[in-house]
Amino acid sequence: MPHGRQREGMTTSPDNRIVLITGANKGIGFAAARELTQAGHTVLLGARNVERGSAAAADLAEQGLDVRFVHLDVTDPATITAVVDLIGAEYGRLDVLINNAGISRDRPHTPAELPVPALREIYETNVLGVVAVTNAMLPLLLRSPAGYIGNVSSGLGTVAFLTDPDSPLWQYANLLGYNSSKAALNAITLIYANSLREAGIRVNALSPGFCATDLNGHTGHLSAAEGGAHIARQVTLPGDGPTGVFLSENGGTYS
Ligand SMILES: NC(=O)c1ccc[n+]([C@@H]2O[C@H](COP(=O)([O-])OP(=O)(O)OC[C@H]3O[C@@H](n4cnc5c(N)ncnc54)[C@H](OP(=O)(O)O)[C@@H]3O)[C@@H](O)[C@H]2O)c1
Repeated sequence: MPHGRQREGMTTSPDNRIVLITGANKGIGFAAARELTQAGHTVLLGARNVERGSAAAADLAEQGLDVRFVHLDVTDPATITAVVDLIGAEYGRLDVLINNAGISRDRPHTPAELPVPALREIYETNVLGVVAVTNAMLPLLLRSPAGYIGNVSSGLGTVAFLTDPDSPLWQYANLLGYNSSKAALNAITLIYANSLREAGIRVNALSPGFCATDLNGHTGHLSAAEGGAHIARQVTLPGDGPTGVFLSENGGTYS
């Protein structure tokens, strides 16, 4: 049985996991929350805005799913600490952390015109926010029998993509802030994977695929639901699954 409370009338899977998802009030994060709760896991739905987060969690809870809103702005240390305290007190451990919150502030600027404050804002969320949340959650993840950290990244941040003018997504190759933040995230993922391997915590970068969400003005060819399903599948691969890789949406890996 999981450490923590089981709400009346709720069904959990035999391997019920306590899952925290950042930026889960909409888009891919929300869809992953729905998938994982439907699979019987307990989802802590993180959102920086209380109203949007509460409404998203209520949407799932009304369907009888085991979800709880947690106020979490990845750029606000006080909210991170409060969530650590809440999870420690109520659940005693964290099994899966999905660092999903992400922004892009590149458009309409060319790389040469991108204001440094916009670049800084992107990095605060997509890079520093991931490190801050991960470090804060590590003690809770170490209490899990099989801790897992999934960093929602993008193929746009890979060297393979950025050196391939024939890619169908080449028009997005000039997103200086977003793409370089995901490149940094990919490196950060590997560094955590290496340093946490002996402790039994797996760390992977995850690709949801190119999904139509607010992030890209709904230009993606997959739905947010499809992207969320990819993320949910990737974080629930069997216990002997890989660590230190970038899992692609089609079941392979990116390099
Ligand atoms: N869409 C794609 O094709 C695609 C492809 C590859 C990777 N990704 C990645 O997937 C992740 C989710 O993106 P999405 O496409 O679902 O975009 P989205 O619909 O814009 O959702 C982004 C989420 O991040 C939240 N967020 C932003 N800043 C935050 C902060 N400081 N603290 C906490 N939450 C914050 C947003 O909250 P608010 O509602 O409050 O703004 C929102 O819930 C991102 O990391 C993105 O880079 C997306």
